[in-house]
Amino acid sequence: MENIITLAIETSCDETSIGVLKNGREILSNRISSQIELHKKFGGVVPEVASRKHIETIDYILDDALKEANISLNDIDNIAVTYGPGLVGALLVGLSYGKALAYALDKPLVGVNHIEGHINANFIEHPELEPPFVCLIVSGGHSHLVYIKDYGEYEILGRTRDDAAGEAFDKIARAMNLGYPGGPIIDELSKEGNKDAVNFPRVYLEEDSFDFSFSGLKSAVLNYLNNQKQKDLDIVVEDVAASFQQAVIEVLVNKTLRAANLKNSNIITIAGGVAANEGLRKLMEEKAKGLGIDVKYPSKILCTDNAAMIGCAGYYDYIKGRISDLDLNAVPNLKL
Ligand code: KG4
Ligand code: ZN
Repeated sequence: MENIITLAIETSCDETSIGVLKNGREILSNRISSQIELHKKFGGVVPEVASRKHIETIDYILDDALKEANISLNDIDNIAVTYGPGLVGALLVGLSYGKALAYALDKPLVGVNHIEGHINANFIEHPELEPPFVCLIVSGGHSHLVYIKDYGEYEILGRTRDDAAGEAFDKIARAMNLGYPGGPIIDELSKEGNKDAVNFPRVYLEEDSFDFSFSGLKSAVLNYLNNQKQKDLDIVVEDVAASFQQAVIEVLVNKTLRAANLKNSNIITIAGGVAANEGLRKLMEEKAKGLGIDVKYPSKILCTDNAAMIGCAGYYDYIKGRISDLDLNAVPNLKL
């Protein structure tokens, strides 16, 4: 069979990324230009600033991605691009770019759901991985527990009812003036702290629910910080970080294991920015081991936003004949 070359574009938030994949799972290039430094001083992503930066950067990223992959535009078989969910202005930059390339090159356009991209990062990292399996997707914008029945076929078991897991990390880090993004900072601090120092609530909701809720935990941490300040008591940042992180990851791990049990799945995958969390990876592996469940997650660079994961999802859509029209629009609140 002839090789299929996919050009992938991702601009849904604050990473401008273009990559090239061979047969959906082999990365020829995966260029990522992060805007984190630009947004840091605001404590979070400023949508208008993000869109403008994507426009300034995207041409150079395409050149780099083609050069690294050692191909020209004529070698491309299809173009995969994120069309949602995300920031509308940011999405429109990548989507318009992808549409223009598809039109000019007369190649098929494949619109990809960003959350689906995160799931597919595991297919790139683990060449032998095949559905079905359970996947926990935890990022700055989403928290989902999903049963992956087949490539591109999903059964949603649960989702967050309020904040996403990564959002909770970012908000707590902001409240403690630790910097942005909060996840990696809290992850590092946790290694030096006592996870049992403060007993923050573990929110499981109804007994049989696979949904998540992190806003109560966030309030509990903010109340604790205020209380300590008011009473002039010490705040041991490492201990608060470790105790907060433990409250998040215990719930994530326990619900995911219960989902694997329900679906009789002996494979669990983790995806999304929070899948980079070392505490989460470790606890999931520890608890799954005794149950004979294999835990898989992507390397850190494939956990956070990148184009390669979008290309992988787009490849499976393409071979199933799921091609988009050139009037495809950005859908900021696109569901999985
Ligand atoms: O997947 P991603 O790059 O963007 C979205 O689609 O949202 O995820 C970014 C999120 C941020 O909230 C960031 O704080 C979190 O992932 N994150 C982490 C870690 N690395 C990134 N959260 C916890 N621990 C980490 N090591
Ligand atoms: Zn993402």
